Amino acid sequence: MEIKKVGVLGCGLMGSGIAQTAATAGFETIVREVTGELCEKGFTGIEKSLARFAEKGTITADQQKEIRGRLTGTTSLEDLADCDIIIEAIIENLETKRDTYRQLDAICKPETIFASNTSSISITEMMTATSQERQRRFIGMHFFNPVPLMKLVEVIRTILTDEEIYEQAVEFGKRLGKVPVRAGDKSGFIVNRLLVPYMLDAVRALEEGVGSIVDIDNAMKLGCGYPMGPFTLGDFVGLDTTYYIAEIMFNEFREKRFAPPPLLKRMVLAGLYGRKSGRGFYDYTKDPKNPTPMNLV
Ligand code: CAA
Repeated sequence: MEIKKVGVLGCGLMGSGIAQTAATAGFETIVREVTGELCEKGFTGIEKSLARFAEKGTITADQQKEIRGRLTGTTSLEDLADCDIIIEAIIENLETKRDTYRQLDAICKPETIFASNTSSISITEMMTATSQERQRRFIGMHFFNPVPLMKLVEVIRTILTDEEIYEQAVEFGKRLGKVPVRAGDKSGFIVNRLLVPYMLDAVRALEEGVGSIVDIDNAMKLGCGYPMGPFTLGDFVGLDTTYYIAEIMFNEFREKRFAPPPLLKRMVLAGLYGRKSGRGFYDYTKDPKNPTPMNLV
């Protein structure tokens, strides 16, 4: 079966980026959100991002229109029935995901491939909400923020994934303009397995007084050539998300390096989620382009 029509579940930061990427690659793409307002919000983000690419000359004005024309929004799961692949990027909650997959399994054609963009929830645990036949066609496709710019997609297989379906998903990743890497269904896959302990260690270094927020960020940015230091990246990803991923990985592996440090927990409890809430390791409320470090230790 050739992949022609792509369904995306969720039009948040990741879902909208994935939908934009699929439409840019030439696929007819339908995005489902729970409300019309959320759908509109996601599409506004897509339009802004496409406009940025058009301004830079990465795409022409005609291409901008064509890409937008390949995208439709819906609030109904039924509208995804004839999709060849569905990429799910909804809230990181196992029960909500399982419930959605259970419904979709009954709605979609038997050939539809199910792919989750989860960053840390077990693909196997979601897969078991579907029929045995679907379980062979169930994979992970983990994208990175901002999706239209980041070149990587991790393609995750479970112990039941059909070999042909898996290879088809890897090829689909290439057709999306990404570089796919193959990974097994272990929490965090490749990137978060390495990235999360690094980010947690940065928080521990801050707690222990090794350096300030700005100095630790500058050290990694200027000393190692990372595009962002660990605290800028944490604020960008979302500290609630980072905390949540760390908890899942700690529960999976029971290893200290995945345990969220007390400061991170307190920041999440206090609502310091990073850029999205206005404050995290930095305060973005006065000048988002030049945030000032918070006084946390
Ligand atoms: N759409 C279109 N264009 C965009 C864009 C978007 N969504 N976001 C940024 N851009 C453009 C900007 O307009 C800018 O264009 P110009 O060069 O023409 O000015 C260009 O991209 C660069 O952006 P900025 O100048 O704002 O900043 P930058 O040079 O630092 O690049 C970045 C931004 C690509 C995000 C870079 O900082 C980066 O690579 N950061 C690391 C991101 C990262 O690690 N992401 C993974 C997080 S982990 C994850 O996602 C998974 C998980 O499970 C937690």
